[in-house]
Amino acid sequence: MLIPNTSLSYLPWEDNDPAPLWSDIFGNNNPIALEIGCGVGDFVVQMAVLHPDLNFIALDFYNKGCIKTCKRVDKSGLRNVRVLRAEARSFIEACIPAGALRMVVINCPDPWPKLRHRKRRLVNSAFAAYLSRFMQPEADLFFATDFVDYGQDVAEFMAVQPGFKNQLAPDTFRHNLEGYPVSKYMKRFLDMGQPIYYVHYRNI
Ligand SMILES: C[S@@+](CC[C@H](N)C(=O)[O-])C[C@H]1O[C@@H](n2cnc3c(N)ncnc32)[C@H](O)[C@@H]1O
Repeated sequence: MLIPNTSLSYLPWEDNDPAPLWSDIFGNNNPIALEIGCGVGDFVVQMAVLHPDLNFIALDFYNKGCIKTCKRVDKSGLRNVRVLRAEARSFIEACIPAGALRMVVINCPDPWPKLRHRKRRLVNSAFAAYLSRFMQPEADLFFATDFVDYGQDVAEFMAVQPGFKNQLAPDTFRHNLEGYPVSKYMKRFLDMGQPIYYVHYRNI
């Protein structure tokens, strides 16, 4: 049974529920930023402080992660973050109007390290093409991973992905991204001396 989440930062939503009206939820018309797989919320809280002019949706299908994220958001007093427990693709399809997102962030998505499981990875060329439908022109797409071949794969396919402009050119990825907060997983791997692969594109 799921532990109930009573935080005011939590937005209960289930498949087949109507799409939230984001301007009502946030109380303003600021652009929306989406973090897919927010984990325990340490990244989104730092990002929401850096970008008070954006409304952040922190999304994860892991209930305990959502509860921890809500606790962090509530403690910080931030009002520009809402936390949702849902699967990314069904949530986006149902709740994000085309061209609405100003930013999409995906940090350390599940790596599915076994070769036969690679097709389960969330981020691939088809997913980037799908995401771009929901992104504004000039919207940012940030991807970070601790997993070498996931980082190299995303760097490689994004370099030829139609509709996106590389923000790190001539590099296709970097191991440092100035001003970009560190998430729990990023920290874990940095502490072990493993590099993070950062990829940053804009929708065109
Ligand atoms: C490895 S953790 C990384 C968490 C956090 N981004 C970080 O860097 O510390 C991946 C997270 O993504 C979530 N996740 C994976 N696939 C998802 C999906 N399709 N929709 C929503 N959340 C997803 C998992 O529940 C997990 O919390």
